[in-house]
Amino acid sequence: MHQHLDDLFALLRIPSVSTDPARRDDLRRCAAWLAAKFTALGLTAEVHQTPGHPIVSARNRRVAGRRTVLIYGHYDVQPADPLALWRGDPFVPTLSDSGVITARGATDNKGQILAHILGAGETIAADGDLPLNVIFLVEGEEEIGSPHLAEFLRRQRAELACDVVAVSDTGMIEPGRGTLTYGLRGIACLEVAVSGPDKDLHSGIFGGAVANPLTALARLLATLHDADGRVAIRGFYDGVAPLAQWERAAWAALPVTDAELLRLAGASALAPEPGYRGVECAWGRPTAELNGLYGGYQGEGSKTVIPADAHAKLSFRLVPGQEPEKILSLAAAHLRNHCPPGVTLTVTPGHAGAAYLLDPATPCAQAARRALALAFPGKEPALVREGGSIPIVSDFKKILGADTLLLGLALPDARIHSPNETFTVENFEAGIRLNQILLHELAR
Ligand code: BES
Ligand code: ZN
Repeated sequence: MHQHLDDLFALLRIPSVSTDPARRDDLRRCAAWLAAKFTALGLTAEVHQTPGHPIVSARNRRVAGRRTVLIYGHYDVQPADPLALWRGDPFVPTLSDSGVITARGATDNKGQILAHILGAGETIAADGDLPLNVIFLVEGEEEIGSPHLAEFLRRQRAELACDVVAVSDTGMIEPGRGTLTYGLRGIACLEVAVSGPDKDLHSGIFGGAVANPLTALARLLATLHDADGRVAIRGFYDGVAPLAQWERAAWAALPVTDAELLRLAGASALAPEPGYRGVECAWGRPTAELNGLYGGYQGEGSKTVIPADAHAKLSFRLVPGQEPEKILSLAAAHLRNHCPPGVTLTVTPGHAGAAYLLDPATPCAQAARRALALAFPGKEPALVREGGSIPIVSDFKKILGADTLLLGLALPDARIHSPNETFTVENFEAGIRLNQILLHELAR
């Protein structure tokens, strides 16, 4: 474990923030570090350049007649902002006496993907090979919507042919309890810009006579939801698959009560869609979210100004039955139809990926559930859906024809994407064990 923790710390020290152009070389360094690690463990590794950040692949010797599993993960991380809320440097990992590692990317996804890599390394060291054909695929652009990975899958379809995909980049319902995530929400992002005068204006001289872009944007964004908080875009809910009765019942028995969600969120109250519990909204209902809103004067005190422009960043979480591209065009049409007069609206669509749903009774899903039961003994594995997105997962199905097994190690309080992200040594070890057991179960 000492060596394994050294490896994890080395990986966490590389600030591989994919959205930040200033970090380009760090992503390169991260890809090279992984390729070297794969090689050291006895796998054949390759770094594939893309117009964005590199993709790393690695494999053992391909033996005809054996099953093939593709293990996917990502080495990029979310920005550490807001920096002031971190207790230390986000890229100087720390280990507490109680076995908690704190660093950006500790859980999402460096700790989890490295556990798979090192688990495979342990098996190779013990047995000389893995019990089936394994392809590792680790990308550097997951947190920005995997813009180049689908194209890579299409180009390398033959080389990446596999029976099933395994991913540890989701949550664990509680410590010590294996969790199979059989559904993920999809995502569709867009940016809105509203422009008015060709410069910031004095709001006394022009206010009332000229439309204020920030006010127009606020009015426009307010039309996205009705008074009950439902999304008010026409056609948004068309085709949405209803939650199955068995899921609602099964989820009600999980330790994700409204009270627990509230505690984890640290909010003053939940605001679920009428008729649904909090967890049902987060895992199985679509949303429209405002992720950023800016424009006008942001400094100390007041400044009486009509800003020249105003901006918003939006994303929609999608469920099975919703098509990302269609949602983006419905949203753009809604925004155009509801934009107040006197300003110019620009809608720029961003990345999008469909929701994912797996039948938890398939033989591969059963193998995953057996592996989870063995790696986390004493507790029946939980079956969950989750609200987060891993856009490439629906492409694994579309392009490679393979189902994805999501065996997450992210604890509810891991604070992924938030300040002071953590991973426990316990889960790191469990992940290494899980990989070894999973490969054997899938080979059976
Ligand atoms: N690991 C997460 C996805 C996740 C989080 C799944 C929690 C289930 C539970 C992943 O790295 C992530 O954050 N994805 C982004 C994707 C987006 C930027 C395209 C997300 O969900 O916001
Ligand atoms: Zn993430």
